[in-house]
Amino acid sequence: MPSLSQQLTDIMTRAFNSLDLPIEYARVNVSGQIETAQFQCNGAMPCAKVAKKNPRDIAQDIIDVVNQDSVASDVFETLSIGGPGFINITLKDTYIAENFKNLATDTRFGISSVRQGQNVVLDYGGPNIAKSMHVGHLRSSIIGDTLRRMCLYAGYDAIGDVHMGDWGTPMGMILSELDIMGFDDDITMEMLADIYPKASTACKEYEQRMALAREATRKLQNGDEAYTRTWREFIDVSVTGMKKNFDALGVHFDEWKGESDAHPYIEGMIADLKAQNLAVESDGALILHVAREDDKKEIPPLILRKSDGAVLYGTTDMATIIERIKTHNPVKIIYVVDQRQSLHFEQVFRAVRVSGIAPEDEMELIHAGFGTMNGTDGKPFKTRAGGVMRLEDLISMAVEKAQNHLNEADLANDMDEVERTGVAHKVALAAVKFADLQNNRTADYVFDIDRMTSFEGKTGPYLLYQAVRIQSLLKKAGVEGDLVVDTCNILDADRSLALLLGELPEYFDNAMKHYTPHILCDYAFKLAQEFSSFYGNCHILSEKDEAVKSSRLALCQQTHKTLVLVLGLLGIEVPNRM
Ligand code: ARG
Repeated sequence: MPSLSQQLTDIMTRAFNSLDLPIEYARVNVSGQIETAQFQCNGAMPCAKVAKKNPRDIAQDIIDVVNQDSVASDVFETLSIGGPGFINITLKDTYIAENFKNLATDTRFGISSVRQGQNVVLDYGGPNIAKSMHVGHLRSSIIGDTLRRMCLYAGYDAIGDVHMGDWGTPMGMILSELDIMGFDDDITMEMLADIYPKASTACKEYEQRMALAREATRKLQNGDEAYTRTWREFIDVSVTGMKKNFDALGVHFDEWKGESDAHPYIEGMIADLKAQNLAVESDGALILHVAREDDKKEIPPLILRKSDGAVLYGTTDMATIIERIKTHNPVKIIYVVDQRQSLHFEQVFRAVRVSGIAPEDEMELIHAGFGTMNGTDGKPFKTRAGGVMRLEDLISMAVEKAQNHLNEADLANDMDEVERTGVAHKVALAAVKFADLQNNRTADYVFDIDRMTSFEGKTGPYLLYQAVRIQSLLKKAGVEGDLVVDTCNILDADRSLALLLGELPEYFDNAMKHYTPHILCDYAFKLAQEFSSFYGNCHILSEKDEAVKSSRLALCQQTHKTLVLVLGLLGIEVPNRM
């Protein structure tokens, strides 16, 4: 079932149609001023401009036609003109109640699922083998996992791929370091964490050492058996460590592929680009021009292969697209990668378009970039010692803070140690994820562990607390399972909450359209606040009128379910109690 604003838009569209007005202006939105009206249509003004007429006259024409619509008498309490020609709309409470009854039986909360059978690949996480995962990969993982959940809910077959950095020169650095050490024992994560920085420093310092790393990389990429065996081994070790980290973060991947999976496609791809005269020699390197005449800034060519024969990041990403088309034939690929890589993606996207690898009308390519996570000092987030913070340390830090805040708020204190730790973990993840997701992803944000773990303000813990509170209220009322809403009474205190519950599809569609989870965060926070005032303004458990009481309990239950759904889309799990 559509949102209330969509239902009203449909009615308006009929009126615009019969008046021969352009229907793109028939859109009805929630009004910004609830005191004046619940909804508003601003279409009369642009229509008047086109027709060179007075907008208030046009608004009146529209209202007259709407009033003749067969459903009008059931739907509208008032339709009036405001200011220069806004159409202000207030609904009948009986209509809001009827709508709520339908919503309460809709298992999809009004959100439509239409695109079944279409694959979407999401590329997020992107950790690099052998280097320990740090907060730099945190944003990508959190945002990417949320977009994956949103795509699934929208009806796509969403495939999350971690796309590890497992194929470049760092691999050769490790392999050559193992050679130098004469190492032939089992490889462990600790060892890898140790070896990589050592090798990388040495390579930076000595050109000869770097030459060894390059040679090892070349041999690996050409299928050297011994190197491949060792490489497999440390990939496995590294992936085991990563899986543990991502599990603790509650981030899921369907595929554990990496840059190396594109390797088998590179030679064929380059041959094809050469045949099309797209790949051209330049100073011994092989490049592909992607600049266009109307470019406002310079877009340099994509370097396919350097003079020493090594292929680069762009080449791998192009070949990965070929691999993904072959395995999933997706309708879109969404890359959740640092905004600073936007030029790279621009080049790659253009390259696969001009070469016909991924025609524009067959596949969408989206770089959902994100800003930097800064420390409270406004600079990119670092540990106190100045290093990058490891993911596991960050999580334990958040759990510790969550525990403190639980103490302060006097919560979860009747639990045994195990349950309490479980709750603290959920609170910590809610804090970290919500703090990240609530910002427009392109914005930088300040990682303030104290603020984000607080139970007050626009935070994950606050939302968990509200959800748990509603749950316990329902329990107190003896509500078990889904309430059947036979009759619904909407009174003054209930109206705003009922209206907001009906608007979820608008928020969801908007968040999907722009790949912006913060819109769902806004909704969750608004809903929690709306519930708070509802709870403060009316009786629920103590309500004498049974019909009013059961309507209110149904509102509580719907709010709870909606919060759990939205938080779930954000990758946030609500504890049973707190
Ligand atoms: N490993 C890369 C990094 O750490 C991110 C990979 C992003 N995905 C991609 N298909 N390029 O920066």
